[in-house]
Amino acid sequence: MPSTLIHPAPAPSMETVTALSSVSVIVPTYREAENLPTLIERLEKVRHAGELDLELLIMDDDSDDGSVEAVERAKQSWATIHVRTTNRGLSPAVIDGMRAATGDILIVMDADLSHPPEKIPEMIASLRAGAPFVLGSRYVPGGSTDAAWGVFRWLNSKAATLLARPLTNAKDPMSGFFAMRREDFNRADGLNPIGYKIALELIVKCRFDHVAETPIHFADRELGQSKLSLKEQLKYIQHLRRLYIFKFGTWSHLVQFLAVGASGVLVNLSVLMLLTRLLTTPKPLAVAAAITLSMASNFMLNRRFTFSYARDQSIVKQFFGFCTACSIGAGVNFITTMLVHSAAPDLPLEVAAIAGIAAGMGFNFLASRFVVFRSQSTAAHKQPSDTPQ
Ligand code: GDD
Ligand code: MN
Repeated sequence: MPSTLIHPAPAPSMETVTALSSVSVIVPTYREAENLPTLIERLEKVRHAGELDLELLIMDDDSDDGSVEAVERAKQSWATIHVRTTNRGLSPAVIDGMRAATGDILIVMDADLSHPPEKIPEMIASLRAGAPFVLGSRYVPGGSTDAAWGVFRWLNSKAATLLARPLTNAKDPMSGFFAMRREDFNRADGLNPIGYKIALELIVKCRFDHVAETPIHFADRELGQSKLSLKEQLKYIQHLRRLYIFKFGTWSHLVQFLAVGASGVLVNLSVLMLLTRLLTTPKPLAVAAAITLSMASNFMLNRRFTFSYARDQSIVKQFFGFCTACSIGAGVNFITTMLVHSAAPDLPLEVAAIAGIAAGMGFNFLASRFVVFRSQSTAAHKQPSDTPQ
């Protein structure tokens, strides 16, 4: 329907009217008392102009800075503040708010007015036109950030977005301003609210292939302080790892396994150089030590990262299992190399060796993934991303 995107309150089919008529705006807050009066005022205008059935849920982590009083003073029955005292944090607050919300449409935004409430009708229209998930985006035509954004903050934001690229093709998945249907939220299982990037978590866990983006101007906060710390940014890397595992399953284990294998080559060569050049250790001993140490470091890294879901099982058993798998893998490598070489004697031996290495590594990976580091509970199979790190 062409009119859907033009008018803020479109006339969609009967079906979508009943499905998407009420709106809940969820705002996580910590020490935002100064911003709440303006936020409520601007939302009231949007509510009024669009004749929206809109409720506001402010999810406050016990700021004790006059936030509760500020909401009371505003005297708007559709705006409520919920003081949380347990499980604090931005993402848990957002998830709690989304669970408590009653609207068919859920919208999440910041309290500091970086996200313009005036864009809400456009985002609703986009949902009604069929988009499953709508981001308020800085990085689509028409979107922008304040000039005051330093090069560092811009670069930081761009790098974070790039790392999320294999998970979604949205231009601004780092945005904390988004809209979705409550029924989609209800079927998202295994949500793991770590870190700041709750929109990315929802896009991946709800498996939204198509994400719509409404351009916004991201204004710098004028009052209060930002809470985005270096610690939050480190948590982001951990969050990304879990989402990759969720989305790509065994493929993401393979990528990690190969990365660990590459690090093992470096360990092997460094030990060899150290022992033979600096310490003049006899060569057979140096080679044996290099192999042993690289195998041990591969084992530790694989246990810590690649197959972290199996970390609660016996380390001794796993270590011997891993060494056995590597030894059999070496045998597979040898046999494959010799077979390929005798089948195609005209090819250089190196080509046969590469085939042997691939077969040996393939064997190592499968044996590690499904035997040595097998997951024992079905829960771990279902949601490898949600095992405790
Ligand atoms: N309940 C609760 N608990 N709310 C919190 C917490 C917390 O621990 N920490 C922050 N908030 C609230 C803030 O009060 C604000 O409303 C919102 O979360 C965003 O926090 P800011 O401190 O303003 O974050 P920012 O400006 O650095 O980050 C913004 O930009 C990012 C992209 O650059 C946010 O929009 C992020 O969502 C976004 O990812
Ligand atoms: Mn902010």
